[in-house]
Order: sequence, then structure tokens, then C-alpha cells
Amino acid sequence: MSGDLQVRGVDMQRPSAARMFDYYLGGTANFAADRQAVDQLVAEVPEAQVYARATRAFLGRLVRFLSHRGIDQFLDLGSGMPTVGNVHEIARRCRSDARVAYVEIEPEVVAHARQLLRGVDNVTVTHADIRDPRMVLSAPEVTELLDFTRPVAVLAVSILPYVPDGDDPVGLMASYRDSCVPGSYLAVSHSTPLTMTEEQVHRSERAYRVTHTPLAIRDVERIRQLFPGYELVEPGLVPLPQWRPEPDINAKQDATASANAVGGVGYLP
Ligand SMILES: C[S@@+](CC[C@H](N)C(=O)[O-])C[C@H]1O[C@@H](n2cnc3c(N)ncnc32)[C@H](O)[C@@H]1O
Repeated sequence: MSGDLQVRGVDMQRPSAARMFDYYLGGTANFAADRQAVDQLVAEVPEAQVYARATRAFLGRLVRFLSHRGIDQFLDLGSGMPTVGNVHEIARRCRSDARVAYVEIEPEVVAHARQLLRGVDNVTVTHADIRDPRMVLSAPEVTELLDFTRPVAVLAVSILPYVPDGDDPVGLMASYRDSCVPGSYLAVSHSTPLTMTEEQVHRSERAYRVTHTPLAIRDVERIRQLFPGYELVEPGLVPLPQWRPEPDINAKQDATASANAVGGVGYLP
């Protein structure tokens, strides 16, 4: 564990965003409380069902895109429960020497990921709160793996909705940017009401209020500000299914725009 982050025990009675996301994806690393929270939310907001799959599909496409652009170092903020299609697996299909530093706040996710990655070279997992960039960027698992004198891709995929305005998500992204050299990238995906009603937005946020990481759904203009100093690459900030679709690979997951999330990739000039 890095720094002085408080260790939390695993509370099986309290839903967690990480385990809820795992359940959406059809994983098994979740408890009854997580499943109940998701089932109730999906009953009220059916759009929630497609969000996780659309996010994972976006993650896959952007990692392939960045790998083809020559990126071989990734800092994955809020990496989530290790499940099929992890960043290092995708990146290494394009570049066998890719290095990936995962960062995650949930201790059980960190433990699970470390177990899964035992014996896998050039991939680390840091237990840290991404709202503390100094801690993240000085963690040995990050500094000893990534070379910040070369371009790095910072991935903030479905993590900034868990960073409230009071924690200054724009300022946080600027802090991560400041340790990156020109030629680096930032990828962001974020929940936004595309087809959801105001009532459904409210219900979605309410569903996560009981977790340690409450959810903030933001409008597209506020999400655009989360790329401070970056130039958005084509096609810009768009609904997830419209970001460089690869019909042959994940047409099914991407079939709907009702994921109510946008994503984009910024280039640091
Ligand atoms: C919705 S999941 C996304 C996982 C992954 N990025 C993906 O796109 O598949 C969000 C993850 O961020 C983690 N998380 C939430 N707040 C965090 C924080 N402040 N620092 C680090 N991780 C956090 C949650 O525990 C969860 O695993």
C-alpha cells in the first residue's frame, strides 16, 4: 500500500462501485448487496445496463489506438476489478513491451489484481486515491515502472464521475498532465445524460450514494474541461459508441448510444 491511505476492510453489506461495475460486466467478484443495488438501478434506469460494456469497449479501442500511435506506457487511474480485457492484455497484443501501472482505491480490488498479476512483468498495482496525485506519482510501483521523460497515456476511464467537484477534477487532471512530456495522452470517459431523464440522473446518483465513491453525472461541456491543455484527437468528445468504432470487434457492445457516457482522447502538444 502506498503512503498513508486508510485501509478499509471489505464490507459485504455495502455496495462498492468497483464490484457493481464487475456485476454489470457479468463478473463474479461481487456480493449480494452489489447485485441488489445494480438490479434496482437497472429496473429504474434500464440505460445503466449498457454503460459498463460500452465503457470497456471504449477502453479497448483507445488502448489499441494509442498503442498504434507508439504509446507503450499507461497510467490507469481507477483501474477497477480485473476482468476480461485489461489494459495490459490489450496493449500487449500491439506492443509486447507495454508497461502498465494500475491505480485503485478499493483494497479488495488491489488484492485481487495483485494476485492475478503475480509473475507478470512490467505491470504494477498501486493502492492509492487518485485525488492525491502526489502520492500516486511518487508511489514506487509507478516511478520504478514508468519513465515520465517519455510519453505516457493517463487513462481516466469511468473514474472522474467518482471525483466530486469539491475535489477539483480539472485541477487533478492538470496535476497529472504536469508530470507528462509533450506527446503524452489523456483518455477520459464520463457519464452524461444523453437519453436519461433528470429523474433517472437523480436515481443513478442516489444508487451510488451508499458506496464509498458517490457518483456525479456531468454535462458534456463540463466533461470537456477535464482535458486541460490537451488537444482532443478526432472525433473529439463523443458518445462512447461513436469514438473510433471497430464494427468487427465490438459491434454488439457498441450497438446503443443509450450508454449515457461520452469519451475522448487528448494529445499533449
Ligand atoms: C466504474 S469503475 C471503472 C474501471 C475501469 N477504469 C474501466 O473503465 O473498466 C471505477 C473504479 O474506480 C475506483 N475508484 C473510485 N474512486 C477512486 C479514487 N478516488 N481513487 C482510485 N480509484 C477510485 C473504483 O473503486 C472502481 O474500481
